[in-house]
Amino acid sequence: MSAYNEFMTIATQRYSCRSYSDRKVERDVLSLVIDAARLAPSACNRQPWTFHVVDNGDLKQEIAACYGREWIIKAPAYIIAVGNHSEAWHRDDGKDHTDIDIAIAVEHLCLAAATLGLGTCWVCNFDAPRCARALGLSDSEEAIAIIPIGYPQTSNLPEKKRKPLDDIIRWRD
Ligand SMILES: Cc1cc2nc3c(=O)[nH]c(=O)nc-3n(C[C@H](O)[C@H](O)[C@H](O)COP(=O)(O)O)c2cc1C
Repeated sequence: MSAYNEFMTIATQRYSCRSYSDRKVERDVLSLVIDAARLAPSACNRQPWTFHVVDNGDLKQEIAACYGREWIIKAPAYIIAVGNHSEAWHRDDGKDHTDIDIAIAVEHLCLAAATLGLGTCWVCNFDAPRCARALGLSDSEEAIAIIPIGYPQTSNLPEKKRKPLDDIIRWRD
């Protein structure tokens, strides 16, 4: 199988998992997926990120409460991707690249998780100030995404709903 086909298989297997089994995810496995995030490119190679792993106790309950949906409680661990706006590159026109850098790193993480049979889900619709308080972040830091991670409850892959290729390519001759 070509590397492209292998990549496309993983990209297809990664989906937004909102139903997790009780199986714990060992910390050395969590380290593996964060190591994949570490390899992500970032503007000017600033790497303006930290990944906060929460897998137990009151803090886990508090992070779940920042999102407030039942399904997230069952995930055995959360990885909160935190961007540091002071470290990130800003273009001359002021554009802050923190979100872009974090997005790339988080998707590395999610794809790496899929290779290990782990489910993940991007969660951005959460109370970010509350999450920042819970994690004790500095003023320049922002909690950008909560990624619940765990072994999926089911091996069924949901159908991918995507625009057709022809609708998104513009061949600009
Ligand atoms: C930046 C971003 C933010 C998202 N935020 C949420 C969220 O807050 N809650 C949620 O359930 N899914 C969230 N999602 C998941 C999307 O709904 C999902 O990726 C999309 O519907 C495509 O489905 P798939 O991931 O299963 O392929 C988010 C995805 C991205 C990329």
